Amino acid sequence: MVRINLGGCSSFVKESQYKTYEAKALEAFDTLIAENGAGNDFLGWKTLPNDTPEEIIAGCEAVRDSWKALGVDLVVVIGIGGSYLGARCAIEALSHNFAKLLYNKGGAPEVVFAGNNLSEEYVAELMDLMAERNSACIVISKSGTTTEPAVAFRLVKEFIEKKYDNASERIVAITDATKGALKTLSTQQGYRTFVVPDNVGGRFSVLTPVGLLPITVAGFDIRAMLKGAAQVREKLLCKCPENPAIQYAAMRNLLYSELGKKIEIMVTYNPKFQYLGEWWKQLYGESEGKDGKGIFPASVNNTADLHSMGQYIQEGERIMFETVINIEKSNRSVVIGTDPQNLDQLNFLAGSHVEHCGAMAQLGTKLAHIDGGVPQIEVSIEKIDEASVGGLFYFFEFACGVSAYTLGVNPFNQPGVEAYKKNMFALLGKPGYEELSAKIKERLSK
Ligand code: PA5
Repeated sequence: MVRINLGGCSSFVKESQYKTYEAKALEAFDTLIAENGAGNDFLGWKTLPNDTPEEIIAGCEAVRDSWKALGVDLVVVIGIGGSYLGARCAIEALSHNFAKLLYNKGGAPEVVFAGNNLSEEYVAELMDLMAERNSACIVISKSGTTTEPAVAFRLVKEFIEKKYDNASERIVAITDATKGALKTLSTQQGYRTFVVPDNVGGRFSVLTPVGLLPITVAGFDIRAMLKGAAQVREKLLCKCPENPAIQYAAMRNLLYSELGKKIEIMVTYNPKFQYLGEWWKQLYGESEGKDGKGIFPASVNNTADLHSMGQYIQEGERIMFETVINIEKSNRSVVIGTDPQNLDQLNFLAGSHVEHCGAMAQLGTKLAHIDGGVPQIEVSIEKIDEASVGGLFYFFEFACGVSAYTLGVNPFNQPGVEAYKKNMFALLGKPGYEELSAKIKERLSK
């Protein structure tokens, strides 16, 4: 279950101000529930925790089992933006920190990601890895035409076709139900396919096969993840001031609009949650950053980043607030021992859990940052597991819809992403971009 604590903001905001933004967030909540706001044809994600058909879940498990039977030990997941960040976030959160280096990997294949960059070294080194391993590939693109995954897939597909005589069994595509190059190719080649529903945008798609298939193949329980998301959903459907999504949306909009807090930093205290920050940045950045408005989403992973970004957060420009992900219980237990020499002067900690030191670092940082003018929102989960990760996904998605409507923008479009693509196509000489190409050449020659 997801809990929220706004106590770390109380010294910065007046109760009356909060009430104003709470009312705005409640109105935005109505818009999201009534489905009469901007972008309302992209609301399919709202019911995914409850209405994902058994056929999809069993289909993901069938791919996992069939690759196990082939002895697959490496799965390359190709996708960019919303087509990979959710899966990567869940897999990193749920995996052993050193899974890649352990001799006993526990049966599941290793999952690596591609198609999220245009680095030649990256794809060349991916081929080095695939040459050594028994590989399969999941290619994900809703549009089926995005350049980065299309380039990676062309290379990976060719590699798999050369190396194996059962290539079509080793490739699964997740794309539109009827249109796009990837759909056409999949039909021609007989790949197994899953559908990205029309009414679910990329950054809201982690609970569709886009996230569910890679997470299943990596060895995790998507049934528990959907159940955790459904439990949180039930809580978020309440039109009431206690609704954590309304509280989060109200407070972050208040901090932004009234206190000039233009940057929100997602703070995590567990290295496994680094990609939660990456997923969340895309979700909020693409949903809210438009029309000249929007909080800039940033992230840090503490305590490592207390030794890099800590100085700025404590004493730099006072333009940020923090949203801290608080994990109440560790899944593992490690106690600090006694050292007879005590040269490091740490015997006062003998008998303490490492987690206790982490909790005190977290609390000490909270107090210091509040003293330094940085308000803090806290989002808590009990521990890291499939259910809580599913719950966090659903919480941040729902709160994003409420928050963007509170801000007055369409949460479900991303017109700004096209600008770089047009220039890139013109520069690469793609047919149809001749006019822009000439304009760019003239601009660059000055
Ligand atoms: O959130 C979004 O819509 C985007 O980040 C897309 O997921 C991303 O651009 C990839 O698009 P596609 O799945 O069509 O290749």
